Amino acid sequence: MLITITEHPDEWLSGREARNTWILQPFMSAQDVDETLLSRTQSQALRAMIDSGLFSGRKPEARALPTPLERTGGIVGVFTGKGKHRTADNIRRAAALAYKSLEDHQVRRAIVATGSLRDQEAAAFTEGLILASYRFDPYKSKENPDERKPRPEQVALAVPAGRNRKNLETAVTRAAVIAEGANAARRLGDTAANDLPPRALAAFARGIAEKFPHCACEIFERDALEKMGMNALLGVGKGSSEPPVLILLTYRPPKAKRHVAIVGKGVCFDSGGISLKPPQSMHEMKYDMSGAGAALCALMTAAELRLPVHITVAVPAAENKTGSAAQTPGDIVRAYNGKTIEVHNTDAEGRLLLADALAYTVKRFKPECLVDLATLTGACVVALGHHAAGILGTDQRLINALIAAGEATGERLWQLPLWEEHDELIRGEHADINNVGPAREAGTIVGAAFLKQFTGKTPWAHLDIAGTAYGVKKVPYWNAKYATGFGVRLLVQWLSDLASGK
Ligand code: BES
Ligand code: ZN
Ligand code: ZN
Repeated sequence: MLITITEHPDEWLSGREARNTWILQPFMSAQDVDETLLSRTQSQALRAMIDSGLFSGRKPEARALPTPLERTGGIVGVFTGKGKHRTADNIRRAAALAYKSLEDHQVRRAIVATGSLRDQEAAAFTEGLILASYRFDPYKSKENPDERKPRPEQVALAVPAGRNRKNLETAVTRAAVIAEGANAARRLGDTAANDLPPRALAAFARGIAEKFPHCACEIFERDALEKMGMNALLGVGKGSSEPPVLILLTYRPPKAKRHVAIVGKGVCFDSGGISLKPPQSMHEMKYDMSGAGAALCALMTAAELRLPVHITVAVPAAENKTGSAAQTPGDIVRAYNGKTIEVHNTDAEGRLLLADALAYTVKRFKPECLVDLATLTGACVVALGHHAAGILGTDQRLINALIAAGEATGERLWQLPLWEEHDELIRGEHADINNVGPAREAGTIVGAAFLKQFTGKTPWAHLDIAGTAYGVKKVPYWNAKYATGFGVRLLVQWLSDLASGK
């Protein structure tokens, strides 16, 4: 969907096209109704709707009113929340509800009465519209009736008279780039595993490096991984005919003062391996590369926004399958940093391939800090559900900065403890460490305690996004049917904060 900015909405309001155009009116109260965009009758109708209590006035809400006898085809009243409830996230949600109203009425074009929104609020509104417009349909036949319905194609933000267009445009353009970045990660997640093996993830990373300045990409294939001693990563991939790869994507703008590394779990499909998962929701494990998608798309977005931060992304990618060569429970592998791991459960594979990638990243790149994102544990979904990802790590300042970025973007994080005592839970019997802990005991913390062994002294934070990467219900700008792209917006916010010296 195209978002534009216009100083001359009148061009949209006259002529035949006006009949196919609707007006979106964000508001806190009836006073916000913009009489220059809405006709007299439309303004009166919307004020009457507001005054009569049609909007609950508590949470974000959008109500459509077709106005076939007016110059524009209809209006959507969009309540954004008021007072302390007028947050960026409520504005995003309100915009998403507005988008759904347009879709329900099969409207192709709309104008937003932007007067009641400050620049940052217009940015949040834009983000909500673009996220809500996300569909994943490359596999749907064109004859499918759902595919033929008209959908919103263009939304113009009307610049109110006397407002600085430049500032509005900067904020809105940035928001659009970020939301499109999140949508790109969603497409990767939703793509079927048969179309997204590790080499396809590598091709995606290469595509970013070719498109954006100051980016470079390096791919390590099986032979190289063997020479480097990346046996934990190789072990995960042994059961699949699709070989594992390590993807390195860097963005190094000349003016960068900071250097951060982001590692994303790239399990393109997680069957559990020999420790096979039950079939009920195994198909969802195509989303097990969501951490990788978020890391790659965050770098892409940072590059597009030209953020002055040096970013290194590492993605260990593999398919966890059950072929005759598959890794077997009880196997012992030596990871890149020399530690030996007993693989008691082949379904705890994310931590294995991340172990090699974390250790390699720390050793080769020496970043000032390290963040990983992974759909790591079902236990995290049990603990936190779908409305927050877990965060754990070794550096409270880093954790706090990420939590703050999460609050700003609506991608919320909730910290779990990671104490020395937890190291006991992964002590190995015949090797240094075990890849699982005692059954049903602090599963998310155990996953993090394991990863910690591979981060050395580098300040590190781990985001367990198992509950937030897909299937999130009741957040209007996401869709339970699709991936969320969780992590892209939060990381870009964090990187922007770093760039501005926060
Ligand atoms: N990819 C899964 C975790 C997961 C579960 C993600 C549900 C999204 C939704 C991970 O590889 C896994 O299987 N973890 C095991 C760890 C256990 C064997 C210690 C789990 O959570 O059961
Ligand atoms: Zn698994
Ligand atoms: Zn997994």
